[in-house]
Amino acid sequence: MIPVLEFIDVSHQFPDSTLALGSTNLQLNPGEFVSIVGPSGCGKSTLLRIASGLLEPSSGSVIRNGSLQFVFQDSTLLPWRNVRKNIALNLELDDVDRHEINRRVDNVLQLVSMQDSAEKIPRQLSGGMKMRTSLARSLVCEPDIFLFDEPFSALDEFSRERLNSDLRAILARINAASLFITHSISEAVFLSDRVLVMSPRPGHIIEEFVIPFGSVRDDELRYTPEFALLTGRIASTFRSIQR
Ligand SMILES: Nc1ncnc2c1ncn2[C@@H]1O[C@H](COP(=O)(O)OP(=O)(O)O)[C@@H](O)[C@H]1O
Ligand SMILES: [Mg+2]
Repeated sequence: MIPVLEFIDVSHQFPDSTLALGSTNLQLNPGEFVSIVGPSGCGKSTLLRIASGLLEPSSGSVIRNGSLQFVFQDSTLLPWRNVRKNIALNLELDDVDRHEINRRVDNVLQLVSMQDSAEKIPRQLSGGMKMRTSLARSLVCEPDIFLFDEPFSALDEFSRERLNSDLRAILARINAASLFITHSISEAVFLSDRVLVMSPRPGHIIEEFVIPFGSVRDDELRYTPEFALLTGRIASTFRSIQR
């Protein structure tokens, strides 16, 4: 299987000589969901910016085999455009045919359960709905890889759990891979096929956990002993590196 994204000995030092990312190797396979957890300031956003191509690493190489969409934490929606028009924006910029735009936007509106709010503007939306719209705006581009930088961390726990469940269901219906950064170990375990733990800065991957819960995961999974055992093991790895 050819990975959609591969890091080979990638590290990064900023011009002010901050060593932000230590030597990092990783592979993201087609359709796979991989989360990265690590202490704040360890280089997670730097890793993701390098993955996206926004930042050139100071050493090592990055191989991408597919198109890519970045989903940011604060949904950068245009306040004067309604949901439908925000989602359509990237396709309009790419000069996609009007009928094709409508067809694809209708499709993703349904995928993120926003069909009843398509005419609303961002200030009429809850945090969760803004996040859904932002996700739809990326989904409509049909990328091979999604990059998420703590997308749900501003939401309350209930909205977050709901979006986690929705995100898994949505991604199960398309064939994209995801690299997902989060502070929440339980979010990482619920969403992922693999969870990678990073060391403090200069961050590098110190441990990988394979998450064996299959592709269909219902909300009850969070309250099972198996789930608690795995989140507990990751949390204890996390604690041991912070000392
Ligand atoms: N443009 C920059 N110049 C210098 N240092 C930076 C720059 N951007 C980030 N850093 C530093 O690099 C380290 C890693 O940052 P970042 O990747 O944002 O961490 P994380 O996302 O894990 O919190 C931090 O110490 C941060 O202060
Ligand atoms: Mg960050």
